[in-house]
Amino acid sequence: MGIFTVSDFSPAWLSLREPADEAARNDAVHEACAKTFASRATLAICDLGAGTGASVRALAPMLPAEQHWTLVDHDANNLGAALTALAAWADTTSPRDGGLTLRHGGKHIDIRTQVHDFAQNPACWPDGTELVTASALIDLVSAAWIERFTLALAVWNIPLLATLTANGKIEGRPPHALDDAVAAAFRAHQTRNKGFGPSAGAEAALLLEAALVNAGYRLTAGESPWILDDSLLLKATAEGIAGAVSETGMVDTSALTDWLQHQSRNSHQLIIGHRDVFAARG
Ligand SMILES: C[S@@+](CC[C@H](N)C(=O)[O-])C[C@H]1O[C@@H](n2cnc3c(N)ncnc32)[C@H](O)[C@@H]1O
Repeated sequence: MGIFTVSDFSPAWLSLREPADEAARNDAVHEACAKTFASRATLAICDLGAGTGASVRALAPMLPAEQHWTLVDHDANNLGAALTALAAWADTTSPRDGGLTLRHGGKHIDIRTQVHDFAQNPACWPDGTELVTASALIDLVSAAWIERFTLALAVWNIPLLATLTANGKIEGRPPHALDDAVAAAFRAHQTRNKGFGPSAGAEAALLLEAALVNAGYRLTAGESPWILDDSLLLKATAEGIAGAVSETGMVDTSALTDWLQHQSRNSHQLIIGHRDVFAARG
């Protein structure tokens, strides 16, 4: 239906969604994270499913003056694009073995990348990691992976900032008669296996929060919806949703075409739900 699918993690798609992600991030959750490390001079961070490095660009301004990031992703192409995008974002750069050292807005930032598939073992962060981050990742993983992940974080006693976990909410303004049926079919599609076993999809954010509480973490959590209007991202998102819904066979095709046309009407808004959480112990 469109050029992007809901399982598209290409640099082009990640770049299209980055401004909406940035605008959606939940302030209270990010402030809780920033406050936890406010007295620190340096911090070692590991970003899981780093894609093209959006977490560094979004979080570096609120973290300590010296940051050591490890970006982990199984897609070498995305990590290559991350180094290129971070070099363009930096005020100054110098290459280093397998990464980059850069300065941005007064922060000194060391980046190393690691091509690695963490579907089996979530605990892939290097020794000395003090914060794990994951953005737009948790809705891809399974409930069993979430359990293993939170147990490993707790064993290492590492705080977590997990942002932009899609929670299956889709709301059009003005609404369309098919909205509920489309959202239900989309949520069903979200549970397909993304390499981690059956995906927790729309349940993932709340499953993660419950598992973190069970593991003794204190949470600051909240919603971080995309509010899309009149943009290429709205069109691409609506097409991606319609493509996924048509794969389920749960919605009549001509009704779905009408739903899609409705999304491209002037001044239409599409709200896509996400949740953010910051979790720390002690
Ligand atoms: C939706 S993208 C999010 C990228 C980035 N965090 C952001 O917010 O823009 C999900 C990322 O997770 C990576 N990923 C998916 N499954 C993975 C796995 N099993 N091991 C490592 N990375 C994985 C993808 O390659 C992709 O870059």
